[in-house]
Amino acid sequence: MEILHTVEELRRWARERRGEGKEVGLVPTMGSLHAGHASLIRAAHESCGAVAVSIFVNPTQFGPNEDYGRYPRSLEADCKLAEAEGATVVFAPAVEELYPAGAATFVEVAGLSKRLDGTSRPGHFRGVATVVAKLMIATEADQGFFGQKDAAQVAVLRRMVTDLRLPTEIVVCPIVREADGLALSSRNMYLSAAERRQALTLSRTIRQVEKLAAAGEREANALMEAAWQSFAGEPDVRVDYIELVNWETLKPVQTGAPGSLFAVAAWVGATRLIDNAILG
Ligand code: PAJ
Repeated sequence: MEILHTVEELRRWARERRGEGKEVGLVPTMGSLHAGHASLIRAAHESCGAVAVSIFVNPTQFGPNEDYGRYPRSLEADCKLAEAEGATVVFAPAVEELYPAGAATFVEVAGLSKRLDGTSRPGHFRGVATVVAKLMIATEADQGFFGQKDAAQVAVLRRMVTDLRLPTEIVVCPIVREADGLALSSRNMYLSAAERRQALTLSRTIRQVEKLAAAGEREANALMEAAWQSFAGEPDVRVDYIELVNWETLKPVQTGAPGSLFAVAAWVGATRLIDNAILG
């Protein structure tokens, strides 16, 4: 498996694969790869003849007081995992490669970028949209693979792909969880043993809401109230948001139709975690 460092190399690689008649799959990541990322790479490998996994801790999607500096970096182990799951190349650029000195061009998905995580992380989705646009433009990938784990990110990127008429189909893969329910995240490694236990409140809450919804409860107020109650039992966990929204617009809904997004974000100590369910 090759490791590419420049956008020009990535562009050339994708062009050549397409020339061979292969579909190009793109799996954008920030590295520190775990089984959640692995499931995306596997899905890409199953449906595309050529798979590029990008590994880039994108500075523009972190706020000034967030964890950009201490975000885990493990390129060597990541490359091994990517190769084992079927990646054809890893794209691991330097910051100056994706953001040349003086970079002043950003992709802003208005409205959507201010909802859910965009509320407490201003500028986050602008950074995400910008870097993913750069990767999609360079590769003109046929398919891009993203996790439902970051459901608001998916909504922002779907809007962006439609608006910019990018040729990449967005494929959404299910949330991969630990045996006890905790959604896998590169940030789980920040958790102490006690926090790791507290963090289960998120998945427990999501499961409970899914159960209520499956039993016929579709009122946003009732579902959100149940979720708030569930978090009330764990005072060391601080809720950032609990919302039932339309997955396309990210606007709150009164009634959860099938396909609605129930999403939570909460602070466990200094670590912000997210989880969600798409109502059936
Ligand atoms: P990162 O957090 O590294 O996640 C990369 C991809 O893996 C995202 O699409 C995310 O939704 C998916 N993923 C993470 N945890 C998952 C889990 N437990 N189950 C399934 N999929 C999971 O998301 C980003 O990076 C960045 O914002 C990025 C899109 C790369 C832009 O910088």
